Amino acid sequence: MCGIVGYVGAQQAASLVIEGLKKLEYRGYDSAGIAVLGPDGALHVARAEGKLGNLTRKLVGQELPGTFGLGHTRWATHGRPSEENAHPHRDASGRIVVIHNGIIENFLELKNELREEGVVFTSETDTEVVAQLLGAAVRREPGTPFREIVKRELARLRGMFALVLFSSTEPRVLYAAKNGPPLVYGKGEGEAFLASDALALLSHTRDLVFLEDGDLARVTAETFEVTDLSGRPLDRPLKRATWDAVSAEKGGFPHFMAKEIAEQPTVVVETVGHKISLETGEFSEDAMGVSRELLRSVSRLHLVACGTSWHAALVGKFLLEEIARIPTEVDYASEFRYRSPLVGPETLVVGISQSGETADTVGALQEAVRQGSRTVGVVNVPGSAIARMVDGVLATHAGPEVGVASTKAFTTQLAALVLFAAYAKACREGRSGLAADDPLLAGLAHLPLAMQQTLALDGAIEKIAAKLVNARDVLFLGRGIHYPIALEGALKLKEISYLHAEGYPAGEMKHGPIALIDSNLPVIGLAPGDALYEKVSSNLREVKARDGILYALVTEGDQEVSSFADASLAIPKIHPALQPILSVLPLQLLAYHVARKRGCDVDQPRNLAKSVTVE
Ligand code: AGP
Repeated sequence: MCGIVGYVGAQQAASLVIEGLKKLEYRGYDSAGIAVLGPDGALHVARAEGKLGNLTRKLVGQELPGTFGLGHTRWATHGRPSEENAHPHRDASGRIVVIHNGIIENFLELKNELREEGVVFTSETDTEVVAQLLGAAVRREPGTPFREIVKRELARLRGMFALVLFSSTEPRVLYAAKNGPPLVYGKGEGEAFLASDALALLSHTRDLVFLEDGDLARVTAETFEVTDLSGRPLDRPLKRATWDAVSAEKGGFPHFMAKEIAEQPTVVVETVGHKISLETGEFSEDAMGVSRELLRSVSRLHLVACGTSWHAALVGKFLLEEIARIPTEVDYASEFRYRSPLVGPETLVVGISQSGETADTVGALQEAVRQGSRTVGVVNVPGSAIARMVDGVLATHAGPEVGVASTKAFTTQLAALVLFAAYAKACREGRSGLAADDPLLAGLAHLPLAMQQTLALDGAIEKIAAKLVNARDVLFLGRGIHYPIALEGALKLKEISYLHAEGYPAGEMKHGPIALIDSNLPVIGLAPGDALYEKVSSNLREVKARDGILYALVTEGDQEVSSFADASLAIPKIHPALQPILSVLPLQLLAYHVARKRGCDVDQPRNLAKSVTVE
């Protein structure tokens, strides 16, 4: 996850910015950069690929005098990790400086518009498009105040972004715009800070404002003004952060699980970004972890995992068979390793694991190797046992997942498996990537915003959670690619609220579980507007026909299921392969709110460990 730090005050900016970025290093990144405006008005910019040490080594002997500046650690999304893609990015004049977390969904449209105006781009990033957009507007309207240009041009951006920027023609004024990824303002004595995480600021100030989506802040050493992008003033009072270090890591959230649920749009962007260019559709063979040649050489896939990761494997089967047409089997790792599995050189065995240390999954992969199979790990922890033992790693970039109940690891696993399926299809068809007009590319670009819109249903979800607090059992029903999501919703609920819950294929309900249906049994029905919608709708009507209580998850515009459900949640509709990533979000929040209302330990549920390193 990228890191942002901005400063204006009386202290030397360079050392403060680097110090702040170091506190955000845990989030993972692959390049870094800094910009400082000197007292003489000269702008000093330094960028480096790799870790902050590479940047600071560049700065040795290179004074960056100045008490106004910003810095960034980048996890590559658009464009490979490199110095020219590192932030800050500038416009053609070199006077407008921008750093950014997130993904600008319409960057290509804006980039082409600017190219037609003769703008020459120096990087592959969507961030540079923001700098050049502002620069082009300043060139067209030299007399318009920069703050007006910022408001108007940022309003044209679609997607998720946390932006901090300035123009050297308006020294000592920072602009901060938030729509998705976090941005926090910190007020000091005659100085001000901006950062993507409070952790970077707490050693200087505890007087903070967490900006909200749609906010645009104008920050000087003494002033802090917030408006929306139309210029309407917004009231954002300072709050005193009284956190200890652990609370600071929660970033103002009451639980790690809540923070990790909220981080999902951002970490899905980072999991996707490294692997495919959303502009060209080209895959990075290195980042995909599996060579094209290996994928072409196998005739079957076998996915092994445990718990939530096994649910991801079930979704992976649908994706790999539907998109890549490769026969794919799924096994609990604990079962696979003891049932003489029929695998060999013709089978690629894929272990899915957040921790990369789960004993059963490690054992299953060892069995696969014994049988002569090649292996791949879909893991979140670099350097973990599984990452070290497999032939290739398809990494998720969820960052540290502290909550025992897996959330952001799951959605980044799903995102990685979508790409794996598309990559396998391309490899087997002799292509290097997706066609530039493949609907999946547009879906991937829209995904973070759609996730954010889905998470915004939190209030309605909490209302439904209040009705489940004393339920005896809860039944989750889903069909097709949403059957594993029903299983995941049930697991989330039972593992943190201790309520019994069961996930079931909606089409199977009439073969037994329908006997459970009565006016005391809440049923969560997943009914996205996909090819199986009519089937699911009739399954859910059977619930209502027996006085069951039905809470339905539908997609926007739904007219049918939402007409007979006791309550329904409408989430955005997106490419079918990406819909499960949206559908699981309300189920995570549902489990979270039920557990909180039942007074359970959300982050560390009883009897559970974050990583089961024993059999
Ligand atoms: C997920 O909410 C659970 N905590 C658990 O099922 C977990 O998914 C399982 O233990 C596998 O862990 P792994 O992904 O680290 O291998």
